[in-house]
Amino acid sequence: MINMRRIWFVLIAMFTSLGVLAQSSKHDEIAQKVDSVMNRMTLEEKIGQLNQLTGDGEVTGPVTLNQDYQQQIRQGMVGSMLNVNGAEYTRKIQKIAVEESRLGIPLIFGYDVIHGYKTIFPVPLGESSSWDLEAIEKASRIAAREATAAGQHWTFAPMMDISRDARWGRVMEGAGEDPYYGSKVARARIRGFQGEDFSKANTMLACAKHYVGYGAARGGRDYNTVDMSMRRLHETFLPPFKAAIDEGVATFMSSFNELNGVPVTGSKELVQDLLKDQWGFDGFIVSDWGSIQEMIPHGVAADKYEAGDLAMNAGIDMDMEGHVYIEELKNLLNDGRISEAQINEAVRRILTKKFELGLFEDPYKYCDPEREEQELLSEENRAFARKSAQKSMVLLKNEGVLPLSKDLGNIALVGPLVQADEEYIGTWSARGEGRHVVNVMEGFRNKLGDQASLTYAKGASFTGQSKEGFDEALQKARQADAVVAVVGESAMMSGEALSRMNIGLPGLQQELVLELAKLDKPLVVVLMNGRPLAIPEVDEKAPAILEAWLPGTEGGNAVADIIFGDYNPSGKLTASFPYDVGQVPVQYEHKNTGRPKVEGQRYTSQYIDGPNKPLYPFGYGLSYTSFEYSRPVLNKQQINFDETLRVQVDVKNTGERAGEEVVQMYVRDLVGSVTRPVKELKGFEKIALEPGQTKTVTFKLRADDLAFYTRDMEYKAEPGEFKVFTGSSSEDVQSASFKLRR
Ligand code: GLC
Repeated sequence: MINMRRIWFVLIAMFTSLGVLAQSSKHDEIAQKVDSVMNRMTLEEKIGQLNQLTGDGEVTGPVTLNQDYQQQIRQGMVGSMLNVNGAEYTRKIQKIAVEESRLGIPLIFGYDVIHGYKTIFPVPLGESSSWDLEAIEKASRIAAREATAAGQHWTFAPMMDISRDARWGRVMEGAGEDPYYGSKVARARIRGFQGEDFSKANTMLACAKHYVGYGAARGGRDYNTVDMSMRRLHETFLPPFKAAIDEGVATFMSSFNELNGVPVTGSKELVQDLLKDQWGFDGFIVSDWGSIQEMIPHGVAADKYEAGDLAMNAGIDMDMEGHVYIEELKNLLNDGRISEAQINEAVRRILTKKFELGLFEDPYKYCDPEREEQELLSEENRAFARKSAQKSMVLLKNEGVLPLSKDLGNIALVGPLVQADEEYIGTWSARGEGRHVVNVMEGFRNKLGDQASLTYAKGASFTGQSKEGFDEALQKARQADAVVAVVGESAMMSGEALSRMNIGLPGLQQELVLELAKLDKPLVVVLMNGRPLAIPEVDEKAPAILEAWLPGTEGGNAVADIIFGDYNPSGKLTASFPYDVGQVPVQYEHKNTGRPKVEGQRYTSQYIDGPNKPLYPFGYGLSYTSFEYSRPVLNKQQINFDETLRVQVDVKNTGERAGEEVVQMYVRDLVGSVTRPVKELKGFEKIALEPGQTKTVTFKLRADDLAFYTRDMEYKAEPGEFKVFTGSSSEDVQSASFKLRR
C-alpha cells in the first residue's frame, strides 16, 4: 500500500515550493525591472521619484506653493501626486509623465479614501462600532473599487491612531481606544483596500497612518506634543501598525507629532530601526503633508537642509508636499550628509510598488471612464452603505419608546441635522457629495410613505446662543404623536485640525432637547457626531438615544430602519463616552492605582464633583431584545506556557425578537512586575440569536495572549493569577479565575 500520506506531503511540498518560487520569482523579476530603470536614471530623476505634490483637488493641508507641477512632471521632478481625481484628469496628468518626461516613469496617484470615495460610509469611528470585521472589510473594498475606477492607485488609509481623548478631532478617523480591536479593524480595512493582488485594476495600496502616537496629542489639541513611556508606546500605540505589517500593508505615513522630543518624521529609531530593520517593512513610507519641513518650527532643524538630513537619515522615502527633498537632497549628498545608497533604497521601494501596481505595463489601467461611470454610487454600493450605517449605530438608551410604530399619525422631526445633507458625510469624505445623501426626513418619508405626516423644525444651530427656533420646534412637537430630535456636530466639528475643548452638544441643542423632554411625548434623540460626546443631562431626561454617528450617504435610511424596527441595533461603542471633558483621557483599560475608588471614602482615587466611570463605557450598546449571559466556564483552573485555556459562555436571547450581540472577553493579570490594567480586551464574537435561542461562545487563551512589556521591557507573559471576564460590555461582565504556571 503506497503511503498516501507520503505522496500528499510530496505534493504539498511541491505546490508550496512552486508557490514560493512563483512569489520569489515575481519578486525577483520586479527587482530586476526596478534595477533596469534605475540604471538609466540620473540623480535628479531619482530625487524626483521621492517628491510628491498636491494637485488641483481639495487642499488637505496648509496652503501650498502655487507651482507649475505639470512642468515639474515633464522635468522628471515628481514621482507622485495627491488630490488629482477622476479617470479623465488622472489620465491627462499621467500622460504628461509617461509621454513627455525623459524616461516616462508613471506617477502614482494617492488620495484620502478614508470612509468611501463617492459612496460615503459612516465615519470610521462609527463604522468600527459595528464590530463586524467582514462588513468593515467590504466597505473598504467598495471604496477601493470606486476610487480605482477614478484613477487612484493608493489611499492614505486606514488611519489606525489609538486615542482616548474625545477632544481630539481625528478620533473620528480611527477605530477607538483599544489596540487589540484597533489592530483587527486596521487589518480588515487593509484587506479591503489591497485585495489579493495589487496588479488588479480594482485594488489599491493602503497606508498605515499616522505612524506613531499622533492620537495622544497633549490636551487633545491636534498636532500638539506627545510624551509617553516606551511601555505605553509599545503596548497601546504601536500594535495596530505592527498588525498592518503582518497584513502586508504597502505603505506607511509618518505623523506630524513629536514623540518625547523627537518629531517622528525625523526619528531614525522609530522609522529606520524599528519599522524597517526590526519589523522588516519593505514598502515605502511617505511623510505627512509638509511634516519634513515642519521640523523647522518643531525646532530640531534650522532650515530645509537640516530637515532633509533628519528625514532621509530617519528613513522617510517620500516627501509629501514639503519641497524639501527636491531642493536639498543633492546638496546633502554632495556634502556627504546622506549617501546615494539611501536615495537608491528609497527610489527602489517606490518603483517596486509602481511595478506591483502594473503601472509600467499599463499606466492608464486605472483611468477607465466607463468603469468610473458604472461603479461610482452604484445601487449595490449604496445598499451596502445603508447596511454599514445600520450596523454602526449604537442604541444608548431605550425606555420603552423604540421602535416607533409605523402607524403614528404625526411625527415632528426637530434639530439642525434632520436634513443637513452635507453634514452626514463628515470630513475626509473624498468625492462624496451632500446632494447624494438620504437625510432623516427623506429616510422617514421613504419608510412611511404618506402614512404619517412629518413636520420639521430646525430648532437650534450648531453654534451661537439663539433660541429663536425653539418656539416653532416646541409647537410642532406638541402637535405630534412622537418627536425625533436629530442633533450633534456639524461635519466640520470633528476631523483634522478640529479639536474641541468642550465635548457636549454644540450651541443650544442640549437646551432644545431638554425643553422637548418636558413635553412628556415619546422622544427619541438621534445623535450625529464624529467623537464621543459628554451628554449626561440628555441621558437623564431623554427616554431613547440612538448614536448614529455621521452616517454617510445612506444615513437617513439607516436611521429610519432602526427607529421603526426594521433593523435591530447591534452596535457597541469602541470609545468611552465621558461624563464630562474633565474626565478625559478616559478608557476602560485603566490601572487600579494604590487607592482605587471606594464610595464614601475620601482618601481614594476619585473626583469630588463627578464619577470615575464614563457615561457609556467601551463595548456598550443596547438592543431591542435582551440577552442573558452565563458565568464563563473554564476547561482548566490553570495552564502552563504551552497549554490553551478554553473559555465558554452561554448567551441567551431572552427577548421577543431576533438580535445580534457582541460577546466580549477581557483579561486581568492580577500581579505583574509592573502594574497591569484592570481589563484588557482579548476576544470578541458577534452572534445572531433568535428569540429564546442560546449559543455557546468559545474563546481560547494562551500565554502569548497574556504577554506584556515587563519591568525589564521584555515582551512576555509572567506566571500568576488571572481573571477572565465575559459579557456584553467592558463593565457588564462576569468573571472566573485561572492560573498561569511555569
Ligand atoms: C493631511 C493628513 C493626512 C492626509 C494627508 C494628505 O494633513 O494629516 O492624514 O493623508 O494630509 O491629505
